Amino acid sequence: MARVIVVTSGKGGVGKTTTSASVSAGLAARGHKVAVIDFDVGLRNLDLIMGCERRVVYDFVNVVQGEATIKQALIKDKKTPNLYVLAASQTRDKDALTQEGVERVIDELKADGFDFIICDSPAGIEKGAQLALYFADEAIIVTNPEVSSVRDSDRILGILQAKSRRAELGEAVKEHLVLTRYNPARVEAGEMLAMNDVVELLSVDLLGVVPESQDVLQASNAGTPVILQEGTDASEAYKDIVARFLGEEKPQRFLTVEHKSLFRKLFGK
Ligand SMILES: Nc1ncnc2c1ncn2[C@@H]1O[C@H](COP(=O)(O)OP(=O)(O)OP(=O)(O)O)[C@@H](O)[C@H]1O
Ligand SMILES: [Mg+2]
Repeated sequence: MARVIVVTSGKGGVGKTTTSASVSAGLAARGHKVAVIDFDVGLRNLDLIMGCERRVVYDFVNVVQGEATIKQALIKDKKTPNLYVLAASQTRDKDALTQEGVERVIDELKADGFDFIICDSPAGIEKGAQLALYFADEAIIVTNPEVSSVRDSDRILGILQAKSRRAELGEAVKEHLVLTRYNPARVEAGEMLAMNDVVELLSVDLLGVVPESQDVLQASNAGTPVILQEGTDASEAYKDIVARFLGEEKPQRFLTVEHKSLFRKLFGK
């Protein structure tokens, strides 16, 4: 049975699309059939981060409005087998998505044998974000270690447990936390919230911590989910997150400042 996962945050620009791309690619690389849907109508970011923007002919809105079939609109990823992208429309108005239309797309993907349907939510707590979370069985809450981000995540958690379909049926939506853009030096300096504070404030199970890293921007410029990089901290962090999501036990990493020795500073090793 397919699991529908919304990647959401409330606050904008915290790393939802980065996380959607990497978690989707990571699950597919481990043999699961994954569809990732860009709910951010008007912005179209996911296809850029996944490097398939030139191959978008039909998009999510076309399918919702009956102008294309899901098969016509799904883009098969070139790097990772089992991974398919449903891009957002760049030009249509934000009201182009309807609840009935979204339900039809999700039901078709379930019937097509997808194991995971990942919904990359737009920012905010209004209609677009509510539509992205409505059909979710589980949610990945993406938060940065700062008060405004935690506050907005708390608000979206409230909406998730009140206004999603599962909530209407009296069922819980399973919540997972991804704490990203974590900078241990700034945490030590008291400029950012520490992991434990965020986990305590939100009281959601932590899937993992992704460090602040230039590698994320490099990956997105290259159109490759950062998880596919070899041996960078950000890619390792996302690989851990996928493993924990699949139920494996892994100790948390990337929480402390790496103090470079004088030797390493002088010789760059
Ligand atoms: N761990 C990280 N380290 C450094 N930069 C990051 C990290 N994660 C994300 N970013 C950067 O933050 C910016 C926003 O990321 P992203 O687009 O994934 O956020 P979003 O939550 O989807 O934004 P929006 O709300 O606009 O949809 C991008 O420039 C991305 O490269
Ligand atoms: Mg986004």
